Amino acid sequence: MTFPFRDDAFAGQVVAVTGAAMGFGRCIARSFSALGAKVYATDINAAGLAETAEGHAMVTLPIDLTDRAAAAAWIATVETEAGQAIDVLVNNAGGMMGQKGRPIEEVPDEDWDAIFALNVDAAFVTIRAAAPKMKAARKGCIVNISSGAAFRPSRTRIQAYCSSKHAVLGLTRQMAMELGPFGITVNTVAPGLVMTDGDKQGTWDGMSESRKEHVLGGIALGKLGAPQDIADATLFFASPLARFVSGQMLPVNGGSF
Ligand SMILES: NC(=O)c1ccc[n+]([C@@H]2O[C@H](COP(=O)([O-])OP(=O)(O)OC[C@H]3O[C@@H](n4cnc5c(N)ncnc54)[C@H](O)[C@@H]3O)[C@@H](O)[C@H]2O)c1
Repeated sequence: MTFPFRDDAFAGQVVAVTGAAMGFGRCIARSFSALGAKVYATDINAAGLAETAEGHAMVTLPIDLTDRAAAAAWIATVETEAGQAIDVLVNNAGGMMGQKGRPIEEVPDEDWDAIFALNVDAAFVTIRAAAPKMKAARKGCIVNISSGAAFRPSRTRIQAYCSSKHAVLGLTRQMAMELGPFGITVNTVAPGLVMTDGDKQGTWDGMSESRKEHVLGGIALGKLGAPQDIADATLFFASPLARFVSGQMLPVNGGSF
């Protein structure tokens, strides 16, 4: 933990994190937990989720977030168990669902839908479910994890991924306007390329030196980020330091344009 907050910075706060079995979600959940928050974490990967919680005080419940009823029920469970509104909701679960870039005429409906179901619809459902109690509490914070693909074309060439991350930015801005009058902030962290699991590390390791040089040459700081870089930006949005920040996107990408 490198973030310069006191160890009890989030003490007593109820924090709900999606996609917490690995990658950013694991790091975000553990970071809030280390700073005293009561963390509720979910993911479709039960074993990974249990590993995330090892040695950390957090409550886990595995669900498939593309099941709208299950996603809404998870929010209700968190509120009931915590006995209060969620203070911080982090919509992190997302990704490319194992898809590869290909020409638009080769993209089947189900592949397009699968990416939207996880990247956009799950965030819509959790926000819709958490909003009433947050509004009644007249406080709260929502952080959606988008991507560099939220504001420019994606290197992956996956049309649905890029479109879905643009949608996450739109959802963030619209919800900031709607929930702002209730004292709730809504922001998005837009990560650059970060090695978060074996697959991504393998992709990087498999690149030629000239390809790696090209990728790093497009990053001002000349290196890839780490999950903690994304977690730290999430902590910032959830902290009092960001009390007057809403509807904003923070690219965390080492300076990549
Ligand atoms: N790593 C990067 O370089 C990068 C860059 C930009 C944006 N992002 C975004 O950051 C977020 C996290 O990325 P990551 O690299 O940590 O991903 P990851 O693949 O390491 O982790 C994603 C998590 O989401 C979970 N998940 C997948 N489908 C689910 C479902 N149906 N229900 C519940 N959970 C499900 C997975 O089990 C996994 O634990 C994603 O939204 C991703 O699009 C990542």
